[in-house]
Amino acid sequence: MAQYQIAVVVGSLRKDSFNRKLAGALEKLFPADFSFIQVRIDDLPLYNQDDDSHPCAQVTRLKGEIAAAQGVLFFTPEYNRSIPGVLKNAIDHASRPYGKSSWNGKPAAIMGASVGPIGTAMAQQHLRNILAYLNMPTLGQPEAFIHNKEGLYDADGNIAEASQKFMQSWVDAYVAWVKRHA
Ligand SMILES: Cc1cc2nc3c(=O)[nH]c(=O)nc-3n(C[C@H](O)[C@H](O)[C@H](O)COP(=O)(O)O)c2cc1C
Repeated sequence: MAQYQIAVVVGSLRKDSFNRKLAGALEKLFPADFSFIQVRIDDLPLYNQDDDSHPCAQVTRLKGEIAAAQGVLFFTPEYNRSIPGVLKNAIDHASRPYGKSSWNGKPAAIMGASVGPIGTAMAQQHLRNILAYLNMPTLGQPEAFIHNKEGLYDADGNIAEASQKFMQSWVDAYVAWVKRHA
């Protein structure tokens, strides 16, 4: 029986998202007491502070899923050297109303894949700023800037051998991080 439920937030709506594929492959490296819920962000309205007093069902769902989780994993693309607007929109939604943020205190980690060689480094740094403000303890090391290139996965879509040791070290560090903060 899973003891730690982790909310997985993918900052891409693209059907064949590299970041969603990466999230799926990473989940397989976690121990059995970890389970995952894929947080849906594609049906959220644009955040409008006027709606704080009467959130729609999608926002209530998002906030409930984050609140119920013992940690949050962000898989983000880099858009124009920052995070995609859809991800920021979801973060803003669950951070409100003021004083009722669902993110507060949730241990987080960030990973991101891009077609460029810097592997979302700038987007991740921007995301770290946001998570710091939201009072989310965020894993510092190892950093994971993933260049989505040939050979990252094996034929079954699992992390290929060349990257397995690094990816497992990242997962192990996050597992310990969640247990420390849970
Ligand atoms: C609007 C836009 C801006 C982008 N800006 C960057 C960028 O700043 N750095 C980068 O490495 N890739 C950038 N890319 C390319 C993304 O790395 C690529 O689209 C990637 O596949 C997005 O992740 P996904 O596959 O999970 O959707 C950009 C793509 C789009 C659509």
